[in-house]
Amino acid sequence: MSYQEEYLASIERPESFWRSQAEKLSWFKVPEVILSKDENGVDRWFADGELNTSYMALDAQVEAGLANQVAIYYDSPVTDTKESITYQQLLERVSLFAGALAAQGVEKGDRVLIYMPMIPQAVVAMLAVARLGAIHSVVFGGFAAKELAVRIDDAAPKVIVSASCGIEIDRIIDYKPLLDEAITLAEHKPRCCIIHQREQSIAALTTPRDVSWTQAIGEATPHSAVSVKGSDPLYILYTSGTTGKPKGVVRDNGGHAVAMHYSMKAVYDMNPGEVFWAASDVGWVVGHSYIVYAPLLSGLSTVLYEGKPVRTPDAGAFWRVVAEYGVKSLFSAPTAFRAIKKEDAEGVRYREYDMSSLKSVFVAGERLDPPTYHWIKDLTGLPVIDHWWQTETGWAICSNLTGIETLPTKAGSATMPSPGFDVRILDDSGKELAPNEQGSVAIKLPLPPGCFPTIWGDFERYNEAYLTAYEGYYCSGDGGYKDEDGYVFIMGRTDDVINVAGHRLSTGEMEEIVADHPSVAECAVIGIRCDIKGQLPIGFVLMKDGDALDEIALEAELAVMMRERIGALACFKTALLVKRLPKTRSGKILRKLMRQIADGEEYSIPSTIDDPASIDELAAAMRDRGIRKAV
Ligand code: COA
Ligand code: AMP
Repeated sequence: MSYQEEYLASIERPESFWRSQAEKLSWFKVPEVILSKDENGVDRWFADGELNTSYMALDAQVEAGLANQVAIYYDSPVTDTKESITYQQLLERVSLFAGALAAQGVEKGDRVLIYMPMIPQAVVAMLAVARLGAIHSVVFGGFAAKELAVRIDDAAPKVIVSASCGIEIDRIIDYKPLLDEAITLAEHKPRCCIIHQREQSIAALTTPRDVSWTQAIGEATPHSAVSVKGSDPLYILYTSGTTGKPKGVVRDNGGHAVAMHYSMKAVYDMNPGEVFWAASDVGWVVGHSYIVYAPLLSGLSTVLYEGKPVRTPDAGAFWRVVAEYGVKSLFSAPTAFRAIKKEDAEGVRYREYDMSSLKSVFVAGERLDPPTYHWIKDLTGLPVIDHWWQTETGWAICSNLTGIETLPTKAGSATMPSPGFDVRILDDSGKELAPNEQGSVAIKLPLPPGCFPTIWGDFERYNEAYLTAYEGYYCSGDGGYKDEDGYVFIMGRTDDVINVAGHRLSTGEMEEIVADHPSVAECAVIGIRCDIKGQLPIGFVLMKDGDALDEIALEAELAVMMRERIGALACFKTALLVKRLPKTRSGKILRKLMRQIADGEEYSIPSTIDDPASIDELAAAMRDRGIRKAV
């Protein structure tokens, strides 16, 4: 079937299209109702189906004869550890840990928060929670205690699963003190914390609340898979919105399983027995979808890599892993390849390894800039596939559908809409724009299986943030255009979300933190271009009258506040003192204009500006600090 035929079938006959995809999975009760509306009026897939995602990913694979196939290759250069875990072994570990969670009172519908580094126990915990029909919420290990506390209060977990430490290259990050602080800060208190003690740092346990992983499984008996409805939640994953409060993206069981299984073949062209590597983190959506669920639901071997693209130990790390496990398809963020390119532009390391297994390289998480695209392509000689997606959708909205038909690529484009996604470019009034005209990227409802049906505990926010801008459409928050051939180009966010090293962060939240500094009268935080990390946050601050703190001291204090409240991943290191911020006469800060000045882009000063001199001042301040790019 050609891409066009497949795509049209998904849009014109969505129910029969997705029914036939659903039939490929091992349901306890195959869904009869394919598409329906829930109590909020949101489209739901497979609501009456009965399944268990952990069963589909493990038991069903063992029953299909994959017991001795490797499910997970764990590779940890930071601890010098490698482990191959078969489907049978993974099933046994997951069943036992599910028993341990059940012994702590975890039941269907309960939440379990997982705060762990990239170790097999993180995957075991996710699948064990799913096995009980409970809901996991994985929090990225790089977040600080405050962010963790916000998520504990929102998800209200019965149990928290964590580890004693993570390892950042050669630095031990003790997780337990962060967890303890978060629990102190949070109003909700978990009943129990199960802590995996890593030999690099043994944590002090708080009795009777904390139990070690070893003790928990030592006393447990294996637990079987609990049946849930297709529309029941599998997980909550928090992502940055435009305010300080993160959004708890909810994923259901049925639509997710179908989307994961379908996309593993359609998008990535992966077949059972092959090795897939998403070089990401289980704390992000890429990790949920393509380190854990999709590969296992598809009978693949997945790589769980606890390391970096560089410095663990060098810029050949990715290529070593590909060669060692025979990876067929590698997926990471453009920033990872830019980091490799910076250290090994000539690809000397690449040529040290046998790369014959690798057939394609996928990138997402941020815009793939054409120079990085060409560098990867020239180095590998392989298809380099930019695909666009969001935590909210769980899988690629646009891609080159290599498992259906590989189309010619165009640098800077995420190619075509994936089956099920009716992508439109709209102007502010909701009118569809002509080819090559830039506007808001929206998706005509219904969204396909796998996309989120609500924000945890806050349907109003879901409705307001995504469904009200354009009636009948999901508003993605990204801007872009389609060219004359229908290729989609995603150009960046239209809101206050920025992307730092593939991590989605909110400048709105950063502004709230800067504004909390006692010397700050007013501030703006914007994301400016960075050659390695894509974007970096930078703050502009007006001091309170008479405050004597100088720019360097303020900058250092703000950087510490940001690390303590968000985490080191915020990469907030620069703050500039200014006398005024450019604003419209109605008082709106002109953040886009500020970003254009910083990035050396052409800009026009809006007629509504209150004080045109503020622009020159700002440009001069940026030049003085070496921030402004050459025009
Ligand atoms: N736990 C604790 N701290 C973490 C962390 C974690 N899981 N992840 C990152 N950090 C810390 C880093 O140690 C660093 O701290 P520092 O400022 O004290 O040095 C800080 O957060 C910033 O990290 P990062 O932006 O990742 O910078 P880096 O220089 O360590 O690495 C890259 C740069 C490009 C190699 C790295 O960001 C990368 O591999 N990015 C890919 C991102 C990705 O996979 N995104 C998912 C979408 S596909
Ligand atoms: P996240 O939810 O963390 O996956 O981040 C989603 C956001 O990252 C999107 O809304 C985009 O702004 C950006 N993004 C992801 N993939 C791409 C891509 N291939 N091209 C451009 N931007 C992307």
